[in-house]
Amino acid sequence: MQSFSDLTGSFESRFTSSLPFPDQPTALYEPCSYLLHLGGKRVRPVLCLMACELFDAIGDDAWYAANAIELFHNFTLIHDDIMDKAPLRRGQPTLHHKYGMTAGILCGDVMCIYAYEQLAHVRKNLPQVIQLFNKTAIEVCEGQQMDMDFETRNDVSIEEYLTMITLKTSVLLACSLKIGALTGGALGDNARKLYDFGKNMGIAFQLQDDLLDAFGDTAKLGKQNGGDIRANKKTYLLLKAQENATGDQKAQIAQLLATDAGNQKVADMLALYTATGADKACRDAMTHYADLAFANLEDVAIPTVRKEPLRELARYLLVRDK
Ligand code: IPE
Ligand code: IPE
Ligand code: MG
Ligand code: MG
Ligand code: MG
Repeated sequence: MQSFSDLTGSFESRFTSSLPFPDQPTALYEPCSYLLHLGGKRVRPVLCLMACELFDAIGDDAWYAANAIELFHNFTLIHDDIMDKAPLRRGQPTLHHKYGMTAGILCGDVMCIYAYEQLAHVRKNLPQVIQLFNKTAIEVCEGQQMDMDFETRNDVSIEEYLTMITLKTSVLLACSLKIGALTGGALGDNARKLYDFGKNMGIAFQLQDDLLDAFGDTAKLGKQNGGDIRANKKTYLLLKAQENATGDQKAQIAQLLATDAGNQKVADMLALYTATGADKACRDAMTHYADLAFANLEDVAIPTVRKEPLRELARYLLVRDK
């Protein structure tokens, strides 16, 4: 079994040294290459490779699937940054800020197609792999639309929020694991349990993403701080702050939501998150979903020692600062 850092290193060097793009047109492929060389944690492809290795040695199928998943993820980031009006990604200007909106749209499109091109090289269980990839890609779009719709709504429930983050984020982690398992020849029940592990881990992952967006260190995170607050995103933090607010805190939150994006809005909202205990509630929710995830992983019928790399990765995701 390869460790988390070994697999991340192997994936990183293989992936960035053999990007599937031609040279021309430069205005299309240079920005793609720019984003893909800015790093990123490579969590999803590594989940795919680890899931494969639970069942069999990592072969071409798993490497192609891992490439496809990372390309698809980066495509979603390009369009997400346009939708979220984000200036920074991985510590550098977002692709559309650096190269313009046309590049943002078209590089996203072509990267998505290249994801499918890579996936088409998979041999084992290809129909199931494609079917799951398609289902997941559609769900991500649905989650992203809900995320956007929620910006202008002020009656979003925690349940709706959890559905939204399951769709926009957690199903891709779950899909990465299940596709990895399928390329390793896993049988139904184990593949399903790995999917559930990824789904709960993905919810914890997005809760941590929301926490970092609010309280993280921009220099480490590489994203603009308070981006969610600026965009009136309905995060767990905001929903809990609204729920826990007492006295005039409710009115203060409503007032801030009606205020234009700016540093003062961010600072004032963060103070309310802390004062209402929303930060603690969010960390507790994250722990809850992580516990569910670890229990799902226990249920996978594979010797415990083989699951250590996945446990290690999952533990890292809960304490990460980027
Ligand atoms: C960011 O994903 C988008 C979310 C679903 C929260 P990551 O935090 O995995 O981004 P990179 O790939 O490591 O930059
Ligand atoms: C993005 O969620 C999810 C997808 C890209 C599908 P966020 O909008 O919270 O991701 P970041 O914080 O910009 O990375
Ligand atoms: Mg975003
Ligand atoms: Mg977003
Ligand atoms: Mg975020």
